[in-house]
Amino acid sequence: MTISLTINGKGHELDVEPDMPLLWVLRDELGMTGTKFGCGVAACGACTVHVNGQAMRTCNIPVGAVAGTDIKTIEGLNGGGPDLTALQQAWIDHQVPQCGYCQSGMLMAVSSLLSQNPNPSDDEIDAAITNICRCGTYPRIRAAIRSLATA
Ligand code: FES
Ligand code: FES
Repeated sequence: MTISLTINGKGHELDVEPDMPLLWVLRDELGMTGTKFGCGVAACGACTVHVNGQAMRTCNIPVGAVAGTDIKTIEGLNGGGPDLTALQQAWIDHQVPQCGYCQSGMLMAVSSLLSQNPNPSDDEIDAAITNICRCGTYPRIRAAIRSLATA
């Protein structure tokens, strides 16, 4: 079955089963490996992308359910250009990543939050960002978000 996807502004026509998880399509069919596989059961957030601007976990979304939507992955977070977003720069300034495995999903989740709420409280951050970081970077994530809110 041919499924049409728009990812980071680029159209794709893919011959895949509609029940294949979007994460598999991104990584295995399109080679976009910035989006990570963690748990496979929508629990950790490593696989987060934006679907129509909303953060969504892709390991349990059938690709057929997102045909025709506007998808953005970590590869397109900065518009695909050479410049980092303010969010990515804040991540560097606050040395957020440790092993880095969860961080693609974190950045996608946080950028979605900030687009809707540019100055979130700690409680709002905790409620919105439920991604898991085994390295425990949560304090640095909050610091980076606060730096953007006060910039
Ligand atoms: S791999 Fe999708 S939420 Fe963990
Ligand atoms: S930076 Fe290692 S899991 Fe988050």
